[in-house]
Amino acid sequence: MTGGHINLQRGWPSLALAPSAQLLKSASNVFTSTPKTAASLVYGPSAGYAPLRESLAKWLTEIYSPKSQLQSDRICVTNGASGNLDNILARFTEPGYTRNIWIIEPSYFLACPIFMDAGFQGLMKGVPEDEEGLDVEFLRRGLQESEKKAQQQEPKLKTGTRYAKLYKHIIYCVPTFANPSGKTMSLRRREELVRLAREFDALVVTDDVYDVLRWPEHANDDASQLGSVPPRIVDVDRTLDGGPKDEWGNAMSNGSMSKIIAPGMRVGWAEATPALTLALSQLGATRSGGCPTHLSASIVHEMLSSGALQEHLKDTVNPTFRARYYGMIKAIKAELLPLGFSISVGKPYNESSKPTNEDANEASEAIAEAGGYFTYLTLPSDLSARTSRLAAEALKKPYDLKFAFGDMFQVQGDAGSIDRAADGFGRGIRLCWAWHTEEEIVEGIRRLAKLIKDVRGRT
Ligand SMILES: Cc1ncc(COP(=O)(O)O)c(C=O)c1O
Repeated sequence: MTGGHINLQRGWPSLALAPSAQLLKSASNVFTSTPKTAASLVYGPSAGYAPLRESLAKWLTEIYSPKSQLQSDRICVTNGASGNLDNILARFTEPGYTRNIWIIEPSYFLACPIFMDAGFQGLMKGVPEDEEGLDVEFLRRGLQESEKKAQQQEPKLKTGTRYAKLYKHIIYCVPTFANPSGKTMSLRRREELVRLAREFDALVVTDDVYDVLRWPEHANDDASQLGSVPPRIVDVDRTLDGGPKDEWGNAMSNGSMSKIIAPGMRVGWAEATPALTLALSQLGATRSGGCPTHLSASIVHEMLSSGALQEHLKDTVNPTFRARYYGMIKAIKAELLPLGFSISVGKPYNESSKPTNEDANEASEAIAEAGGYFTYLTLPSDLSARTSRLAAEALKKPYDLKFAFGDMFQVQGDAGSIDRAADGFGRGIRLCWAWHTEEEIVEGIRRLAKLIKDVRGRT
């Protein structure tokens, strides 16, 4: 086998895709304008660079086609989805009063330590995915059980007008092209989830960081025929059954430029009701230091308002990922399915934003779509008990291959999640097409097939 290390675990966009020229032009627009330079080199407003909040509201309205134009008072600028997850916990939770963090499993494994840092060690609970993206009945039973056990009926530490709203539960998920499973949650599940959250005083926090990375699942289909981007859970909360239950609402969307421009930019946004967004932006550290990503935000605004970002997505990012995706799937079919692997990303739920049964026929005619960064494979039964060992062996020569394996996606500290991993998602591996070229991806799949054959040959 030739070539160096291949890392199909890494969920970063390859550097070759970074829009350096557009960023340079955008930065130059800022620094050659005295008012823009002045506006971007001072402490940023707590809710973030106002022109970016406006351009985000316009862009998000275009891509999600909500029933009415989004207003910028629903949006604040963040330093990425990870940082904002921390902010949400700081502002709207208190461990003890907030009973549990419910995390869809297999889970985005880097989220668990963020919850732990906020004091939720031992309080995180996994919720299994089902074919439509979330086992709502499992979650309902868990919420009921948790409420029965709840000891602390009032917040003890975060009290007074500064903490006007604390939630009893946080539900965390990645509803579209999930990390790690690649699944997209159906609209029906999104609605059920919002109703459940309203019933149990939960905030649904979604990392909507892969939504705009989409292409037809089948190579011959025309990308211009894709349906609309599925409504985010925050969009569902905005309109379902007459709109949010109260001024705070029960959903917050975490957006990010990391996967579509570059993670080093550290620019993201949060969207929720204006009351939640305002309170979120009034964190102590933000009030002291200003919006944590101010200069970068001004550069991203130039890219977005000039259309350079949209063009970059349409002409570079999506076509590149699309080609890599087809290359990866073709190689999986040729090399791994004959060895007993299966692809486990579930049905594509690409129905339009219309929710109910009468649209079922229309929905089934929409072309199937794929997207995001990842696919999830289930291993053949003779190998499924040892995905971590396989992953360790894959790192060695001659394979020199890295991939993420099922047990990494357990919800830390939840015994139920460990059991469910043993029976289900733990038998899987996650592969990413964002970092390597198509050729390298295909070589990585070949190395994986060789590893499996070698392991079988030894037993
Ligand atoms: C689901 C999910 N959330 C958050 C992040 C990190 O986002 P950010 O770079 O905006 O902090 C990632 C990156 O892998 C991710 O997959």
